Amino acid sequence: MSAVGRRMVATSWNICSSLRCFSSQENKTLPSQVKIVEVGPRDGLQNEKAVVPTAIKIDLINKLSQTGLQVVEATSFVSPKWVPQMSDHTEVLKGITRHDGVTYPVLTPNLKGFLAAVAAGAAEVAIFGAASETFSQKNINCSIEESLERFEDVMTAAREKKVPVRGYVSCVLGCPYEGKIKPDIVANVAKKMLDMGCYEISLGDTIGVGTPEVMKALLETVSQVVPLDKLAVHCHDTYGQALANIYAALQMGVSIVDSSVAGLGGCPYAKGASGNVATEDVVYMMDGLGIVTGVNLTKLVQVGEFISTALQRPSSSKVGKALSKL
Ligand code: HMG
Ligand code: MG
Repeated sequence: MSAVGRRMVATSWNICSSLRCFSSQENKTLPSQVKIVEVGPRDGLQNEKAVVPTAIKIDLINKLSQTGLQVVEATSFVSPKWVPQMSDHTEVLKGITRHDGVTYPVLTPNLKGFLAAVAAGAAEVAIFGAASETFSQKNINCSIEESLERFEDVMTAAREKKVPVRGYVSCVLGCPYEGKIKPDIVANVAKKMLDMGCYEISLGDTIGVGTPEVMKALLETVSQVVPLDKLAVHCHDTYGQALANIYAALQMGVSIVDSSVAGLGGCPYAKGASGNVATEDVVYMMDGLGIVTGVNLTKLVQVGEFISTALQRPSSSKVGKALSKL
């Protein structure tokens, strides 16, 4: 295990010395390292009712960049009429201090968004589709098939400019409008995004309805067409299942996890969707499992406190709350 890994395990022991923490040796089926994709500044703040000042967003991203995270999704180049909270995307992207070893992807639903993102300095983008027709219509105003056509335009431009593209598939375990979603449909959309050139596909349980065995069944199907090392899980914690679902995904061989500091978030087009799983909770679990993330939990908790104070409400992270009291 690397020095970072040993330090992380030690941190976990210091925090919970009375609890039994497992080493990665005892969990041979689990990955030894996990990449965490922090989506709080985008997925989290896109859903805020009150306007979050641009300076706070920039501060948040800068602070997250100092925790050891490798990926901090910064903002969205979407229509300001649809998601006003992200309308300061250019100022945010231009205002942040980029750290070596950290990437700052942004969401781009179409070519217009992609071109604006690149002009503002984006070096990586994400396209976002869905496995539910109704959600696709409500979220990006087109069918799944039409969205894939729009994404082709983004992919062509991204290839020309050598900009890596991540792909999201929403509603993989359930849709707020259509209910259960068949794994085959998810696999089909995910494969199309992979084939068009996305380097990684994030499977979004947008409304957090999944449970561990359902997650495993989904991954069983999707991994037949998208290699496991290119799959990420993006769990919302609406029903308190996110960590259990992530653990199930780790057992299946997934090693990329999306999460949001302080459990910020929700989706404006998914009524009732609560926040993403909190990054603090994910890092704590990984530390306990002896899985290296490279993220310093103490620093991360401080960032969670910062944004919760700025938003004037308690953190949704159980770990954040527990450690803040110590
Ligand atoms: P539309 O209205 O169908 O677009 O919106 P349009 O092409 O017909 O154009 C209409 C107007 O929008 C035009 O302006 C365009 O220029 C403008 P007008 O002529 O009326 O002045 N427009 C844009 N403006 C700025 N940026 C753009 C852009 N594109 C067109 N990129 C559109 C289609 C996709 C733009 C719209 O539906 C949209 O912005 N949707 C974004 C919704 C969103 O951001 N949802 C949240 C993110 S997804 C999510 O959270 C799920 C995820 O986290 C995974 C999970 O949890 O499962 C990823
Ligand atoms: Mg989300």
